[in-house]
Amino acid sequence: NSNSQEPLKNVLVTGGAGYIGSHVIYTLLRTHKYKVISIDNYHNSFPAALTRVSELALTELKAASDSQPSAQDIDSTAIDVHECDLNAASAVRSIFSSYSSKGGIWGVIHIAAYKAVGESSEIPLTYYANNVAATISLLQTMQEFGCMRLIYSSSATVYGVPPDIPIKEETRREGDSVYGRTKVMCELIIQDFCDSVMNDSGSKTSFQAISLRYFNPAGAHPSGYIGEHPRGRPENLLPLLAHMAVGTVTDPVLKVFGNDYPTPDGTCIRDYLHILDLAAGHVVALQALEEGSELNAKVFASSIQSQGRFKAYNLGKGHGMSVMQIVDAMRKATGHDYKTEVIGRRRGDVPELIADPALARAELGFDAPRDLETMCRDLWNWQVKNPTGYE
Ligand code: WQD
Repeated sequence: NSNSQEPLKNVLVTGGAGYIGSHVIYTLLRTHKYKVISIDNYHNSFPAALTRVSELALTELKAASDSQPSAQDIDSTAIDVHECDLNAASAVRSIFSSYSSKGGIWGVIHIAAYKAVGESSEIPLTYYANNVAATISLLQTMQEFGCMRLIYSSSATVYGVPPDIPIKEETRREGDSVYGRTKVMCELIIQDFCDSVMNDSGSKTSFQAISLRYFNPAGAHPSGYIGEHPRGRPENLLPLLAHMAVGTVTDPVLKVFGNDYPTPDGTCIRDYLHILDLAAGHVVALQALEEGSELNAKVFASSIQSQGRFKAYNLGKGHGMSVMQIVDAMRKATGHDYKTEVIGRRRGDVPELIADPALARAELGFDAPRDLETMCRDLWNWQVKNPTGYE
């Protein structure tokens, strides 16, 4: 019953309505340990996603409990939704202060960012303002309100063209695009902040941050009730293939950006992982920020990057799939007979990105068990049920 339960911890998710954010929030709600707060400016997302996430969590809570769920468990499936731009510092501050009388914000999962590699080199200042300046502003507000725990949404693009495959976390960082550089800069800014707010006992006043470097997230919740819905035409391979199969993108062929790479079939290789496995990685990382826990001690025992409490983990399966292999997998999942046409390489693409998943597995117990067939089946199920997404 509710009085034997720990009070909910307030956790803020920026970019909460997005593809990653909505699946991360869904996974947080299912733990019934957090009161989730979303901040999103809906630049590349829809508020309806959050309504559906909350409905899904409540439906699954009721289905799972043989008795009437506790009031607190029911409350934990409701999301506090704020439409707000992270660069609107005063609005973000007032959101933080509104939780001061409710225990304050325990931790932040910072996912909000612009992420199109090609676009980033066309409008660099917009990317630096939205991805870097907003992160600095968020950190300043967190410090002001004594909110000292951060999960940062980073990306395999911080490695540029990696010297070795599979990629370990200590690999040097070298953003090869404006987008990639925004991710590297934010990691360095967060690291420097961790180092500056680090007392030697590593006690409560330390600022703790875990940076999760995503490889290629794919798929959707198996219900098909939430999924990826970018505004405008999808740029990423898997959502584009799903839209082609359902007919909301009418391109006659899939343009393959180069097949002259040093890979078995000449097309780029990526490490695709299921969005729900990626989301689960965020919940484990959040639990690792609980000072005094065994997980916390293990994670921050060896921080390669800095003496501060900063740690980075790759989130990937450790397997690579080429563009043509993805097209084949989607041909099987959708029954759509894709035609492909090889054109020139896309600027910013690297031949191969495959995670070495050993560190996250050893220290966070992170695993990404769902296979490519499941990713394609779940993506297709979402797209068929929602051809025009959340509109
Ligand atoms: C995958 C492969 C393309 C479209 C990007 C960002 C990364 C992350 C995930 C934010 C590449 C090829 C694609 C097409 C193609 N985003 N392709 N024809 O580039 O690995 O990663 O999205 O964090 O930061 O860089 O993903 O899906 O765009 O491309 O041939 O029409 O498919 O060249 O090799 P990518 P992608």
